[in-house]
Amino acid sequence: MDRLTKVFHAPGPVRASRPWGEQQGRPVLTVKGFEIHKGRLDPAAQAALVEELRAVAVAAPFVAPVTPSGKAMSVRMTAAGRLGWVTDRKGYRYEPRHPSGAPWPPIPAAVLALWRELCAPDRAPDCCLVNYYGKGARMGLHRDADEGDFAWPVLSVSLGDPARFRMGGTERGGPTASVLLESGDVVVMGGPARLAYHGIDGIRFGGSSLLPQGGRINLTCRVVA
Ligand code: SIN
Ligand code: FE2
Repeated sequence: MDRLTKVFHAPGPVRASRPWGEQQGRPVLTVKGFEIHKGRLDPAAQAALVEELRAVAVAAPFVAPVTPSGKAMSVRMTAAGRLGWVTDRKGYRYEPRHPSGAPWPPIPAAVLALWRELCAPDRAPDCCLVNYYGKGARMGLHRDADEGDFAWPVLSVSLGDPARFRMGGTERGGPTASVLLESGDVVVMGGPARLAYHGIDGIRFGGSSLLPQGGRINLTCRVVA
């Protein structure tokens, strides 16, 4: 098994459907409509993006979010763009400002370039949500459904420690498959996967040296409305 085959662990019929293709000579794995661009960002591009994200985190510090029911989430969260996705006792929603009252910083240029190339050449995303996974952090299965328009895909960029990404269908409780997302991998959730359940089972803390403190950053860009 080569490195790219090893990251693909899907039960049942998905395994038989020749999931590997390529775009511009780069490997693309499609699982349940999720398009996984392995190694889309090289190590230099990953490091440059981490620098841009440091500036984002200075302007909009990471917060420890709670769900509307009051449950603490294990990720730390901030955002860039015209709108940021937030959650607290008042609910899940998009807000034009960080909880501090400051506007969200701009989305890093490298992320916008990826979006133009893989998602839409002439419609920029409104929000780039930034999640930080420290030791033990995970993200339960959910759908990204707080946007007003589902015609656009969601773009996800992984940086730092590897994570097990779980993918389902549009119904809660259906069969799932998983892949290991590594630093530099980019996922496009569009078409049949736009409203599909997905989540992060966990990360391999310390499995990458990209972030000096360890952990994983995931960016998700969305068109909100
Ligand atoms: C999310 O769905 O919000 C995060 C996905 C990921 O961390 O890869
Ligand atoms: Fe999500």
